[in-house]
This record gives sequence, structure tokens and C-alpha cells, in this order.
Amino acid sequence: MNKRSAGIFIAFEGGDGAGKSTQARLLAAALESRGFKVLRTREPGGTPVGEKLRSLVLDHGNGEIDARTEALIFAASRAAHAAQVIRPALERGDVVLSDRYIDSSVAYQGAGRNLGNDAVQSLNEWATAGLQPDLTVLLDVDPQLGRHRRTAGEAAEDRLESEADDFHTRIRDAFLDLAAARPAAYLVLPAHLPMDELATQILQRAESLLHPGADSNMPAVRAASAGGSGA
Ligand code: TYD
Repeated sequence: MNKRSAGIFIAFEGGDGAGKSTQARLLAAALESRGFKVLRTREPGGTPVGEKLRSLVLDHGNGEIDARTEALIFAASRAAHAAQVIRPALERGDVVLSDRYIDSSVAYQGAGRNLGNDAVQSLNEWATAGLQPDLTVLLDVDPQLGRHRRTAGEAAEDRLESEADDFHTRIRDAFLDLAAARPAAYLVLPAHLPMDELATQILQRAESLLHPGADSNMPAVRAASAGGSGA
């Protein structure tokens, strides 16, 4: 059930305040202007059931949520997201940009909550029937900069964000370890670089996925402007 066709799946990962959403938005706009059909989505969430699970697990005031329950809620949200949103979009040949994916659970629940990275990885591989991104963009953020950024506006920190600094340091290290284990599948960038510079590097890498073989004019993913539903 692992096989899928056509589309490209890019996940954006990083600590809170890394700027993932901004970069996902900029990449979506750049690819759309080049004629690609792009689906931007996020976790937890992305489906009706996922959005309910999102508020259950992120909002304060739902009573105690122990670590295993938390991991299962994120995995349940992801199962729905993979089956109902990501896989169908990839089958249509779209570019899927997801703000967070499995690595967030490995980092936050596996390392942050000390549930163990391998256990959380396995749970999520089962939940998604093995659906992996083609590329993960990791925006590596210093936990102090992340906290500074997310508390600069008027928004309050959610249940996870309001954890202590050492929780966020374990998360950062876990993300970097995941990238180091499979370097070809990652683009790791320091989140403090100027927004435009990050966007340029991310677009370059995305284009190399979309147009493998520099001598070929045929995109691996059909541009929306090319029309036609045959593939
Ligand atoms: P996010 O939507 O990135 O927060 P925001 O939009 O406020 O920046 O993520 C919400 C929080 O959920 C974030 O603190 C990370 C956490 N999280 C996990 O702990 N595990 C997961 O699997 C996912 C997807 C998110």
C-alpha cells in the first residue's frame, strides 16, 4: 500500500517559532506561479476530525493529557490527514506542503516527552501506512529565539509551546538527529537566516525534486497549466 504516484510531498519541520508556516506559504506561492498545483496543509489538523483533535491536544483546559495519550492523538490526526488528504493529493499529481509531519511526533513526543523515538516512529509509520515525505525542510531554531518570536505578538503559547526550555532543546536535537540519519531526504537551514534567503534555498531544492534530470524539460510533477488529466 506504500506505492503512490506522480505528486511530490514536502514536509516543513522545526521547533516552535522557526518560521515554517511562512516558508510553506512562500514556497506554495512560488510553485503556483510556476504552474504547479499545490496543496498546503498542516498538522495537527488538515481534516475535520484532525482539527478537533488539534484543539483537544493544544488548548489548555482539557484536563491532564498524559504523554501516551498525547502521542496517540497526534498519530490519529496524522492517520486521517495521510489517508484523506495527502495520499489523494499525491495521487492527483499535486505538490503537497505540510506544516509538520511524523518528525514532529518523534521530536516532541519521542524526545520531548521521553516516550522513545523508535516507538513513536513505529506508531506513526503504522498510522500513515508508511507514507514518507520526498523531502523534509528542517528550519533549525535556537529554542530561545523560537520563544522570543512566538511571544513577541499577542498570541498566547499553547500546551506544548509553554513547556520549559530543556523540553525544546531535546526537540531541537531530535530533529537534527533525524536529518543526520538520512541527509539526502532533508534540507536543514538555520531559521535565523533572512526570510528571502531561506525561501530561495527552499525553492531551489524543491525545483530539483520537481525537475530531476537538469537536461529534461519534463517536470516530474505535471504543472497545472499543462492541463489534461492523463498521466
Ligand atoms: P504548530 O501548528 O506548528 O503550532 P503553531 O502554528 O502555533 O506554531 O504546532 C502545534 C504544536 O503541536 C507545536 O507546539 C508542536 C506540537 N506537535 C507535537 O507535539 N507533535 C506532533 O506530532 C505535531 C504535529 C505537533
